[in-house]
Amino acid sequence: MDLFRTKVVGNDPHVDAGEPADSANPEARTLKRALSARQLVLLGIGAVIGAGIFVMTGQAAANHAGPAITLSFVIAGFACALAGLCYAEFSSMLPVSGSAYSYAYATLGELVAWFIGWMLVLEYLVAVATVAVGWGGYFNGLLESLGGFIGTSLALPDALSNAPFSFAGHTLTSTGGIINIPAIIIVVAIAALCYRGISQSAAVNAVIVAIKLTVIFLFVVFAIRHVNPENWTPFIPPAEGPGKYGMDGVIRGATVVFFAYIGFDAVSTAASEAKNPQRDMPIGILGSLALCTLVYIVVSGVLTGIMPYHLLGTAKPVATALETYSDLSWLKFFVEVGAIAGLSSVILVMMIGQTRVFYAMSHDGLIGKFFGRVHPRFQTPYKGTVFVGAVAALLAGLLPLQVLGDLVSMGTLLAFATVCVGVLVLRYTKPDLPRPFRVPAAWLICPLGAAACLWLFLRAFLDNWLWMSVWIVVGFVIYFTYSRHNSVLEKQKK
Ligand code: ALA
Repeated sequence: MDLFRTKVVGNDPHVDAGEPADSANPEARTLKRALSARQLVLLGIGAVIGAGIFVMTGQAAANHAGPAITLSFVIAGFACALAGLCYAEFSSMLPVSGSAYSYAYATLGELVAWFIGWMLVLEYLVAVATVAVGWGGYFNGLLESLGGFIGTSLALPDALSNAPFSFAGHTLTSTGGIINIPAIIIVVAIAALCYRGISQSAAVNAVIVAIKLTVIFLFVVFAIRHVNPENWTPFIPPAEGPGKYGMDGVIRGATVVFFAYIGFDAVSTAASEAKNPQRDMPIGILGSLALCTLVYIVVSGVLTGIMPYHLLGTAKPVATALETYSDLSWLKFFVEVGAIAGLSSVILVMMIGQTRVFYAMSHDGLIGKFFGRVHPRFQTPYKGTVFVGAVAALLAGLLPLQVLGDLVSMGTLLAFATVCVGVLVLRYTKPDLPRPFRVPAAWLICPLGAAACLWLFLRAFLDNWLWMSVWIVVGFVIYFTYSRHNSVLEKQKK
């Protein structure tokens, strides 16, 4: 039964963290409460809008859903909205750094908490590396465009902008590359920012978000004139096989574009750095989710309206669509800048998320104390930040990450489903806890949210079961050989 022991809600000394960290005792230092509601919303938008809209929308439209990709966005957005409500209840009630991991520990027990913490590594750390590879591609493209303006080549050679291997089907092939330098540089630069401070990270994030929203606004305003409604018919192309068009394709499309929504939950990992988490967490989570959903539906509608869907399956679908219209070619450069900005803030907020989840797991004894150490002056989990930055930089620089997008989504979906179940469990086990935000009709929303997320998970699992199973087995091996014995709850028992 030890596997399902729960952590008592409310006994975490870090819940009310934020006092100046002038203590000489490293164990007593806490993170800094510096974030306002506006900054939380911006962090959410920073984490959400990125590779999903700038890269994956086109591929999901071309390969799975056709113009009905907007419907895929609605389906994925619906699942996220249900989960988002549950995150809002938990994060205002338990304003701790561990997000879904901590909520699971308080409700479903240690083994499930560990499992979700392990899944969050997919969502945050692996996403940092995956998005950094996309960032490198866009950055090299921008260098190429700039070189075009001055009549010389500025782009890095392939050997220095590609990992040495790639996956073709299920086999590893050599790319001729040596190392992906741009991907490494962006991860290291962002890790340095996270190390420096949460206020500095939030300020940089706000600037980046302003840039990417401006670019998206420009795209919609100028491209909408070229929308040809014929490109939207048939709205759902006739099925051509499992996951390819038809309603099944729309669902498969939803599992792909689910990636685009990932990140609103990262706001909850900043709960112990929010000035007024009880009030501001729901605003940050639900506000960013609502805005991003609107952006996605509009952008995917315009994109499939200006170009036939089957031509959108490129690495840069938005730029590809713009190339067709000579009067819009100037926008292509801005879209590249917007994509680079978008991907940078995703890397930033995901890195904040990963280091905070490790921070919480470390305080519970499930991983080493190293991850819980707080910088005496900057009040950031600095050692964990160096670790996450180094691992993500290595992954991004050396490994083929094309296969990982689905894994990131699957890890996230399991975390979302757990949070939905957890809210309901806590309503029964601790009905009297003060809940600054309550999920309306929880008896309906929570099971529906869990079912929607599990359904999308299973749809993606069918295509990726081998990788996911390996990840799960490795996670359990670590738990049973290390975490279980070092757990703070285990030590309290002795
Ligand atoms: N939602 C993030 C993106 O689309 C992960 O890049």
